Amino acid sequence: MNHKQPLPFPPFKTKTIEKIPISTRSQREEWLKKAGYNLFQLLAKQVTIDLLTDSGTSAMSDNQWAALMKGDESYAGADSFLRFRDAVQRVTGMPYIVPTHQGRSAENLFFSSIIKPGDLIPNNTHFDTTEANLRHKGGIPINLPSPFAYRSEMEDPFKGNIDLKALEQLIAEHGSKKIPVCMITITNNSAGGAPVSMENLKAAKSILSKAGISLYLDCARFAENAFFIQQNEPGYTDQSIEQIASEMFSYADGALMSAKKDALVNIGGFVATHNENVFQKIRELMVVIEGFPTYGGLAGRDMDAIAVGLIEVLDETYLAHRIGQIHRLAGTLRNAGVPILWPPGGHAVYLDAGRFLPHIPGYKFPGQALSCKLYMEGGIRSVEIGSVMFACKDPKTGEWNLPQMEMVRLAIPRRVYHDAHLDYVADTCIKVFSMRDSVRGMRFTYEPPRLRHFLAQFDWD
Ligand code: F0G
Repeated sequence: MNHKQPLPFPPFKTKTIEKIPISTRSQREEWLKKAGYNLFQLLAKQVTIDLLTDSGTSAMSDNQWAALMKGDESYAGADSFLRFRDAVQRVTGMPYIVPTHQGRSAENLFFSSIIKPGDLIPNNTHFDTTEANLRHKGGIPINLPSPFAYRSEMEDPFKGNIDLKALEQLIAEHGSKKIPVCMITITNNSAGGAPVSMENLKAAKSILSKAGISLYLDCARFAENAFFIQQNEPGYTDQSIEQIASEMFSYADGALMSAKKDALVNIGGFVATHNENVFQKIRELMVVIEGFPTYGGLAGRDMDAIAVGLIEVLDETYLAHRIGQIHRLAGTLRNAGVPILWPPGGHAVYLDAGRFLPHIPGYKFPGQALSCKLYMEGGIRSVEIGSVMFACKDPKTGEWNLPQMEMVRLAIPRRVYHDAHLDYVADTCIKVFSMRDSVRGMRFTYEPPRLRHFLAQFDWD
């Protein structure tokens, strides 16, 4: 049976190519064993299709490569900064802009300027670096995902929404003195890359402004979010992505961006804000830890590439192809019965490893086992987002505290892989699904104390 969906039209052609490493199953078995069954420990040249992340892995366009040549590397007041600032202002509508070398550095600078120890910071779901930076400044991250975020078969187009009732309750309980800012992550990476609706943004803004709390967007994937609004939210079909993005930003007091996603570049980020006071504090701190405020840890040429990428990403034909690729892969898998988080979000397909391998309990790491099998069968590198990343043992009772879902993320780099590559990914997933009963669980042979997924070592149970 052919499970494949119609092909989305790619609105670009190829001017340069990069060879893909092809390997045999026995080579991969040996490499994976040597890597301690941890895909982060593999070399890139041992990977055929690399779906570890969509961050910093985009292919740049001819116009972005041309812009690199215009890079002005002056220490202060470079032309590249002016072009970068103009593009960020055009997209966000915010006056005060600081460049940063990537998203987590924007988080560090922003939280340093706004948080006191003990403050509560709500978000639809904090990304792990956001949470880590918050904790580093003594803040307490509060996740308020939509109640439907992890109902993996439910048809809700905006599962990335923040839970408005829970937000109101949090404010009623703790008051605005304890909550200096609320964040909303668009799209919600930790909840399957699901989008946030305009209605939800608008309602959150109204709740927050009544309480005197500011709203900042984590806008790493803002254009993908805008595309979902255009496609699925009543009243937006006739609006351009730029118009929709500009309405999204109009509800925010500021924004943090990892430009490594929707600015279509390999490095960079920024903080944008309406608040002059926050801007001043960030400028004062950044000269100590990041760089002069007109380059922020970036080369001039990188700011030029961002300036072009931020505008290019607003192109609907690009977004239709990008989201189309992800939906086609998701649809093919779903038609073949492979359990995935549905509907798919904007940057990845998330396999539901708990339902894929129901015979493996969470504490034997079904997601890790599945990601190892995908590598062994097809040289595909994915990332486990489940018990390896989040589970912890209660030190007193020894009982496991397991995450809501066991997932494996297949993140799709932008403008990099063709649909034939993604068909190969689908075929490999379907093949592993057909032999799922033979897949065993895993155990740690080395468990690092923090962020253990990066360095842990495993073996089959
Ligand atoms: N916010 C979100 C929503 C992210 O997805 C990321 C990175 C960051 C902030 C941090 O940005 O990497 O530039 O410092 N996400 C990557 C991923 C790493 O694979 O999802 P950064």
